[in-house]
Amino acid sequence: TPRVFSGIKPSGGLTLGNYLGAVRRFVAMQHEFDQTLYCVVDQHAITVWQDPAELRDRTRELAAFYIAAGLDPKKAILFNQSAVPEHSQLAWVFNCVARMGWMNRMTQFKDKAGKNAEKASLGLYAYPALMAADILLYQATHVPVGEDQKQHVELTRDIAAKFNHDFGTELFPMTEPVIQGAGTRIMSLRDGSKKMSKSDASDASRINMSDDAEAIARKIRKAKTDPDALPSEAEGLKDRPEARNLVNIYAALSNQSVETALAELGGKQFGEFKPMLVDLAVTELSPITTEMRRLLADTAEIDRVLQAGATRAREIAAPILKQTYDCVGFVGA
Ligand code: TYM
Repeated sequence: TPRVFSGIKPSGGLTLGNYLGAVRRFVAMQHEFDQTLYCVVDQHAITVWQDPAELRDRTRELAAFYIAAGLDPKKAILFNQSAVPEHSQLAWVFNCVARMGWMNRMTQFKDKAGKNAEKASLGLYAYPALMAADILLYQATHVPVGEDQKQHVELTRDIAAKFNHDFGTELFPMTEPVIQGAGTRIMSLRDGSKKMSKSDASDASRINMSDDAEAIARKIRKAKTDPDALPSEAEGLKDRPEARNLVNIYAALSNQSVETALAELGGKQFGEFKPMLVDLAVTELSPITTEMRRLLADTAEIDRVLQAGATRAREIAAPILKQTYDCVGFVGA
């Protein structure tokens, strides 16, 4: 049965990249699939130090973002990872299936651990095995993510294949990453070669989901560009990373392909295009920000939504973990 799973770390402010690369797809897919699960992956967040009070706030903030962006908690299953202990139980099994050599190739680990890998947590290294557990605990067939998560979903397939092979089963499906549309790789507004990221030192490099209309306008007005007019075909953006990024953002926010967006934008100078982008971004993002703030006034209600989601998630997860334990040979599973 087709089933969708995805997750976001509550480890910092949410950016336009998270929205366009992930959450906008989540919302669309909740209508296209019977079962969708969207997780706040708090256990992934603590692979690097998180202040406990902030982790709590960010977990609720991310849940509020999911709902404000259009996820319906009656339809999609919204929950936080630590509330479903089966995630870490399956992750242990996968720690024993995944090979050190596979983990050593993970580019996100290399980026995050930096030169001083000795000082990185063991959890940061094992991170992709927990991610595979998130996905396969529900036998998820589709995982909507941004481009940067592609390697992790491929590793998930490797883990599923090795588990199935080692234990002579077909328990785990070959999950498909869903990396679709113009928003799958949103870049920094200051440097078209860097990903837009919550961890970039410059706040001007990103649009935060908490930014007000004025901040959005200021950041887009100041965004790096080049002196030329926009081309009328995607090919013309090839060596223009900053221009391409702003067009991608415009296309993703207006649910168009880059090609259709350029049919409208081709020939325009940035002086004309940027105000259009500001209008579109403010129209699309402001209602979400406002709704997020409203929801966050009642954290008890958010906690109830997460709790109810966790209960539904466990109903799917528990029998799949049991089958896994049976395959492995654990007595009493
Ligand atoms: P995270 O929390 O870093 O990011 C959440 C989602 O946002 C996407 N994203 C972007 N997309 C386009 N442009 C950007 N600049 C940009 N920045 C972030 C990410 O691709 C991601 O889809 N390991 C995951 C979380 C995770 C997960 C999972 C995802 C844990 N378990 C299971 C899917 C399935 C992560 O760190 O995402």
